[in-house]
Amino acid sequence: MSKILIKNIKGLFQVGEDLPVFKAGKEMDNPSMMENAFLAIEDDIIVAYGSMEDWGGINDWRDLEVIDADGKYVLPTFCDSHTHAVFAATREEEFEDRIKGLTYEEIALKGGGILNSARKLQSMSEDELFEQALERIHNLIPYGTGAIEIKSGYGLTVDAELKMLRVIKRLKAVSPLTIKATFLGAHAFPVEFKEHHQGYIDLIINEMLPAINDEGLADYIDCFCERNYFSVEEMEQLLTAGAKYSLTPKVHVNQFSVMGGVKAAIDFGARSVDHLEEMDTADILALKDSACMPTLLPGCSFFLSIPFGKARELIENDLPVALASDFNPGSAPSGNMQLLSSLACTKMKMTPIETLNAMTINTAHAMGLEETHGTISLGKRANVMITKSISSLARIPYSFGENSIEQVILKGKVM
Ligand code: NIG
Ligand code: FE
Repeated sequence: MSKILIKNIKGLFQVGEDLPVFKAGKEMDNPSMMENAFLAIEDDIIVAYGSMEDWGGINDWRDLEVIDADGKYVLPTFCDSHTHAVFAATREEEFEDRIKGLTYEEIALKGGGILNSARKLQSMSEDELFEQALERIHNLIPYGTGAIEIKSGYGLTVDAELKMLRVIKRLKAVSPLTIKATFLGAHAFPVEFKEHHQGYIDLIINEMLPAINDEGLADYIDCFCERNYFSVEEMEQLLTAGAKYSLTPKVHVNQFSVMGGVKAAIDFGARSVDHLEEMDTADILALKDSACMPTLLPGCSFFLSIPFGKARELIENDLPVALASDFNPGSAPSGNMQLLSSLACTKMKMTPIETLNAMTINTAHAMGLEETHGTISLGKRANVMITKSISSLARIPYSFGENSIEQVILKGKVM
């Protein structure tokens, strides 16, 4: 048995046995912090914590690794509940086009955007995609990511969507990261279906979904519900089909326009609705009646120069907010969660503690990992990170662009 004791912790963040399944409203600013604490791990499980003053010492010192966290904070690792981290190539040329004045939507209408990524992914081998994605997601671990959701959606053919999802399944098998797979065949209409949407929807329903189900390749189903992409009615067809295979929705809605997708997704039991750069009062009301997690993606707002999600409005309505990276080659080419915290503080006026709650307990819920991740509680997965020696947790967003995390432990192993 491997054992780790972290002692003299300046602040143990998000710790306790009676924490809610997610934090909403005013509770979002509660760090649930224990000062001057210790944390004990056995194998991959959190087995004890408490105040250093109450610590009776360790009886059995065999095989015990002791880490002194004097002056440092310990937090649950980040859960990144929305990414497109399997892709074939970066898209700097579109970045430059946007600098010169084109918008994301204009580039997409010219055949760039998601279709550009799909062309490249279709011609890359499964092995190469896997190797690239493995390196890409492992580069996030030193920044504190411990769990990640990854979507398909750059395949857009039966073969290429299955290829992407098989890559994610292989990542799950070898990575110390906890991974959830989301099927996003409905990410964009392939060129040949531009004038014949139902043909592509039928392909998803009749060919992709049954094959995905046979191989057990997806945990969730997604749809890009947006003007020029999938309408609310089209999304409803897809979510109905997904429900037959017990796929819970986590959907892209309200990135550029409000179309009623939030309420429609919630009616299908969506675990999260993601983007919400645009939002109206009907969306807020629909969210209030549900356990669906509103998830904002400040990296995408920053990179595309589109509005930032209205975090304050959600919180003032007693709702939760989750923050995820949207890591993808088009709209958010970074999976650095600490940078998201900085953006959410400066651009969305979230407090530093609200951002940290939004990226741990709330994203764990958005990924269906609330039983095992997102908080420091007895019996939960030993996924924790130790900061550098810092004056307060606000240093994480304050020192933007820096890595404030010194050590990451995943499944009880020091990375
Ligand atoms: O969440 N908006 C839809 N999908 C991604 C972007 C995909 C891309 O541009 O490659 C997003 O922003
Ligand atoms: Fe996305």
